[in-house]
Amino acid sequence: MDQASEIREKIDIVSFISEYLPLKKMGRNFKANCPFHNENTPSFVVSPERQIWHCFGCNKGGDAYTFLMEYENMEFPEALRALAKKTGVTLKESQFKRGEYSEKEKIFTINNLALKFYRYILTTHAAGKTALEYLIKQRKLGKGMIETFELGFSPNAGSSLSDYLVKKKNYKNNDLILAGLSIERNGKLYDFFRGRIMFPLFDHRGNVVGFSGRSLEDTSSPVKQASHTFASSAPKYINTRETAVYHKGSMFFGLNSAKEEIKQKENAIIVEGEFDAISLFQEGIKNVVAIKGTALTENQVSLLSRFSPKVTLCLDQDSAGFEATKRSLEVIEKKGLVTSIIILKDVKDPDEAIKKNPGEFKKALKESREIYDFLIEKFILENNKNSASGKKIITDNLLPLISNISNEIIKEHYLKKLSKVLDISSESLNKEIEKFSKKNQEDKIIIPKKDKRGRRELLEEYLISLIIQNENSKEGVQKIKKILSEYKFGTPSLEKILENIYLYFEKKDKFNNQDFVKSLSKELLATFDMCYLFPLPKFSTELRHEDELRKVAKELLIIYIKDRVRIISEEIRQKENDKNQGRLEELKKEFTRLLSLLPKN
Ligand code: CTP
Ligand code: MN
Repeated sequence: MDQASEIREKIDIVSFISEYLPLKKMGRNFKANCPFHNENTPSFVVSPERQIWHCFGCNKGGDAYTFLMEYENMEFPEALRALAKKTGVTLKESQFKRGEYSEKEKIFTINNLALKFYRYILTTHAAGKTALEYLIKQRKLGKGMIETFELGFSPNAGSSLSDYLVKKKNYKNNDLILAGLSIERNGKLYDFFRGRIMFPLFDHRGNVVGFSGRSLEDTSSPVKQASHTFASSAPKYINTRETAVYHKGSMFFGLNSAKEEIKQKENAIIVEGEFDAISLFQEGIKNVVAIKGTALTENQVSLLSRFSPKVTLCLDQDSAGFEATKRSLEVIEKKGLVTSIIILKDVKDPDEAIKKNPGEFKKALKESREIYDFLIEKFILENNKNSASGKKIITDNLLPLISNISNEIIKEHYLKKLSKVLDISSESLNKEIEKFSKKNQEDKIIIPKKDKRGRRELLEEYLISLIIQNENSKEGVQKIKKILSEYKFGTPSLEKILENIYLYFEKKDKFNNQDFVKSLSKELLATFDMCYLFPLPKFSTELRHEDELRKVAKELLIIYIKDRVRIISEEIRQKENDKNQGRLEELKKEFTRLLSLLPKN
C-alpha cells in the first residue's frame, strides 16, 4: 500500500470534514450545506461507509485529499503533507520528489519570484523611485504597509522580469506565459505588467495567485472615470488574466492579511479597491478585504462566510457603488450573512474618507447601519412617501430586496417597518411580492436541481441508486431485469453497473454493497459512488421501495420505446413509396412489436 492510501485509511472522513463544516446525520450518511457553492438545502453528502463525499449541487466529490484540495486551495503534495502530519505518518522522500511540481505549484513559485523582483525594484532600485514617492507622498502609505502588502513596481522596460526569470531562474517562456506574467509577440517575450505599481494577490492561505497593477500615469487620481479607463488608452488597473490559479471572482485582495482579525471581530469590512483596503488597514482597521471593483460574487461570499457571519459594506459612494451594493446584497442573502453598511459623506471612497479624517471614518464605522434600515430610509428620503406614485417607486425598489431576505423573522421585521412608514397594509405588500415572484418563476425554465441532463439520464442514475442503496432481493432485481430486457442505456457506465448487479445475483440472494464493490472495475467506481450517495426519498416499507423501482424501470422503458417508435415511423414514412417492400414490412412488424412491449399500466 502506498503512503497516500495508508494515510487515507487512518482518517475518518466524517470527523475530518466535521472540523470544517457542521455535518448532520441523515440516515446512513451525513449532510451539510455545500461549502463550494451557495445553497440553503444541504446537498453535500458524506458517507462513513465509503469514506467519500459528494455534492449533488455542484457535482464535486472525492476523499479527504480532494476535500482539502478544494477547501484550502491546496495541491495534492501539500494536502498529502498536511494529512501525513495530522495522522503522524512520516513521508518518505519519494512521496514528493523535488522538482516534481504540478502546474499550479509551479505558478505559485514563479509568482513568488516575480513578487520579490517587483519589490526589489520598488524599494531599492532607481527605476522604482517615482512609484515609491507616489505611494508615500500622494497615497500617504507608510513603509510598514508597503511591507505588509508586499507592494512592488514593474519597470517600464519591455522585458526585464521575463529576462530575469528566463536567464537567471531558468524558466521556460511558456511557464511565464502560463503564469500570466509574460506575453509573446513575434516570437519575443514581453512583460505583461509594465510601469505599474504591483499589488500581489494572495489567496487566503498566502499563495500568490496573481497581481494587479496600477498605472503610474494618473497621479492626480481624479473622480472615477467612465469604465475605469483614462483618456489615454492604458487602463488604470490591469489584473493577471485568468490562469490555472487566478480566478478574479473567487478571491479578495487582502483576505490573507485580514482573516485573523475578521474571525476575531466576526465581521468583514468589504471595500472596492486595493488602496481602500490598505488605507483602512494602516489606520488599524484590519478586518478589511477588497473585491476589486464591481459586485460580490457567490464564490466570494462562500469564501468569506467561512471566516465571518457578518459583513459590512463600504463600497464607493457613487451611484455605481450603490448598484454594486444592491447586487452584492442579493448574493450575500443566499449565504444568510448579516449585512450592514457604512455611509460616508462628501467623499468618493473609503480611501479618501480615512485620509481626510480618520476619526470621522471610525465614527461612521461605529455607526454602521443594518443595510435594510439604511435602504428603507434612503428610498423614503428620495421620494414622496405620501403620494401614490411615490409609494409605488419606493416599494418597487425595496420589495425585491426585502423579499429576498433569507431569515423569515428579519424579513417580517422589515415588511412591518415598511408597512408602517408607508401606511400600507402588510397584505398589500405581500400581494405585490407574490406578483413579481410569480413573474420571476415564469421566466425560469425549471430544470432538475441536479444538473442539465435529461430525465432519462437522471432516471437511470436513480434506478441504480435504488438498487445499490438497499438490500434488494434477488426477485426484485429479476423483475427489473425482465422489464428492461429491451432497454438500451443512455449512460454506458450505469448499464455496466447494472450488468454487474445481474451477475452478482447469479451467485447471491441479497445485495451487499461492500461485497459488490469488490467485483467492480476501477473505472466504474466513481459512477458507483455517485449512485451510492444519490439522495433518495424515504420509503415506508420494502414494498413501497420495490414499487418505486418498478415504476422507474417502466418509465425508462416507455421513454426508450417512444423514442424508437418515433425513429421507425419516420423511416416508414420515408420508405412508403419505396420499391423495397421487404424492408417496409420489417419496419412495420418492428413497430407493432415495440408497441406491444409498452407496459400495460
Ligand atoms: N479595478 C480592476 N480593474 C479595472 C478597474 C478597476 O480590477 N480595470 C478594481 C481595482 O481593484 C481598483 C478598484 O477596482 O482598485 C476600484 O476602481 P476605481 O474606483 O476606478 O479606482 P480608484 O479608487 O479611483 O483607484 P485609485 O485609488 O487607485 O486612484
Ligand atoms: Mn475607488
